[in-house]
Amino acid sequence: MAPWSSPLTQWCNNLRRRKPAPLSVVPIGLACVTSFLILFYVSLTFDSCFFHLTKIHVDPHPSPVVVVQHQLNNTINANDEDHPIVNNAQPSSVLPELTQLTSPSKGSTESKHHKKKYEDEVYHDKEIFYQNYKEMKTSLKIYIYPHNKNDPFANALLPTNDYYQPSGNYASEAYFKNVLFKSHFITNDPSEADLFFLPFSIANLRHDHRVGVRGLPDFIFNYMTNITQNYPYWNRTGGADHFYAACHSIGKLAMEKVDQVKSNAIQVICSSSYFLTNYYAHKDVSLPQIWPRHEEPLDLASTSKRKKLAFYAGTAISPLRKAVVKTWENDSSISVHGGRLKTPYSEHLLGCKYCLHIKGFEVNTARIGDAFYYGCVPVILADYYDLPFMDILNWKSFSVVITSSDIPNLKIILQSISPKKYSILQANVLKARKHFKWNDSPLDFDAFYMVMYELWLRKTSIRVLS
Ligand SMILES: *[C@@H]1O[C@H](CO)[C@@H](O)[C@H](O)[C@H]1NC(C)=O
Ligand SMILES: *[C@@H]1O[C@H](CO)[C@@H](O)[C@H](O)[C@H]1NC(C)=O
Ligand SMILES: *[C@@H]1O[C@H](CO)[C@@H](O)[C@H](O)[C@H]1NC(C)=O
Ligand SMILES: *[C@@H]1O[C@H](CO)[C@@H](O)[C@H](O)[C@H]1NC(C)=O
Repeated sequence: MAPWSSPLTQWCNNLRRRKPAPLSVVPIGLACVTSFLILFYVSLTFDSCFFHLTKIHVDPHPSPVVVVQHQLNNTINANDEDHPIVNNAQPSSVLPELTQLTSPSKGSTESKHHKKKYEDEVYHDKEIFYQNYKEMKTSLKIYIYPHNKNDPFANALLPTNDYYQPSGNYASEAYFKNVLFKSHFITNDPSEADLFFLPFSIANLRHDHRVGVRGLPDFIFNYMTNITQNYPYWNRTGGADHFYAACHSIGKLAMEKVDQVKSNAIQVICSSSYFLTNYYAHKDVSLPQIWPRHEEPLDLASTSKRKKLAFYAGTAISPLRKAVVKTWENDSSISVHGGRLKTPYSEHLLGCKYCLHIKGFEVNTARIGDAFYYGCVPVILADYYDLPFMDILNWKSFSVVITSSDIPNLKIILQSISPKKYSILQANVLKARKHFKWNDSPLDFDAFYMVMYELWLRKTSIRVLS
């Protein structure tokens, strides 16, 4: 007898051995089969009883803490391939099946209705955001490491608004710093500070002949040595309540010799790719890259002038850009340009329904900001881009996020978006537009206050041990 046979099989076999007459085999066999079936049924019922019990223990009334968790989960999921943001880009026939698989069976009509509404909302939760925003504005305090006007590196450590207006591709870095120095968040008393700002400007140091690209890692290393040796604040948290801001991707290189800054401090950076090891979603903050524009375009809301389907212009420096230009260069409704434009850039952004943002060397470019500025719905083709303000804004409600494998289907994807859905997307672009603008003196909900809000969210998860 095999050692693994169950007691029941043994019992059946014993019976057969005692009564070997051929006729009795049938009832004994039947008895064994019935016993097996009964045992099988009992085990099934037991399982579902157990399952039922565990289900009842789920709290049906989510507390505010759960709501916060949910916001975090949204951000986490947004990084997954199966996030609704990404699904939005799939041909619509795929969607219902996915929704059916994931949505709960009871009350499905109600939840579908709710889901639809959420899809069109600019914010994950507007009420929570407004409530927290108010608290952030009144309570957040920042200490900036002080530097003298006579410091030989004052050009990189102090704000620049005395010399020139921020401009160009990496203006976000200078704007953020200039506005922060003048803002009401600043305190001269480090004991009441929630967060500490490391005021070096990567962009300025990069152009400073005494430092340059090659000298950046040593400069930052020396600077951080000063900070950790001469002040007690860094060591209290290992730098978790410290932050710096940089828009040029060279910032990555600059942090090469200061691992603690990379892994502990809050990095407010434009090249926020969670594919790279130097950026940590949730800890770090995605700074929007915005080319500052000053003349206000007229009549943004009118979509009738947007005759063409989509637009892209830019040098084909990455395989993605090459693929898009190669696939769509002769298309009559998608207008892609690998070189210089013959007509003004703004005319294209105002004349197309969708404006493509395609990853170059880095995930970030100023094109999302441009699309917002001219009221064009951004189409984002930059895998692993931790989009700015992702934990506040519902990107699905005002953009189309696609992946590299969608390039051949780009036209089908965009054409399958109904005119009604497009007008919702476009109206939401105009609503979200203010979050992607810098102002010399900050205005509520502009890019500056949004970044401050992101910092405030991170501050709440740091505890200083005294
Ligand atoms: C968030 O995710 C965690 C881990 O997956 C899970 O335990 C928790 O229940 C989720 N919360 C909500 C509100 O979905
Ligand atoms: C670090 O401190 C030394 C001595 O106080 C000073 O000479 C140097 O300029 C400082 N470096 C930076 C980057 O602040
Ligand atoms: C902070 O810690 C570092 C490394 O342990 C040490 O060298 C430094 O002196 C400490 N700074 C202060 C201000 O105590
Ligand atoms: C676009 O037109 C040019 C010139 O006629 C041709 O060489 C090229 O192969 C075409 N590209 C595609 C994708 O059809």
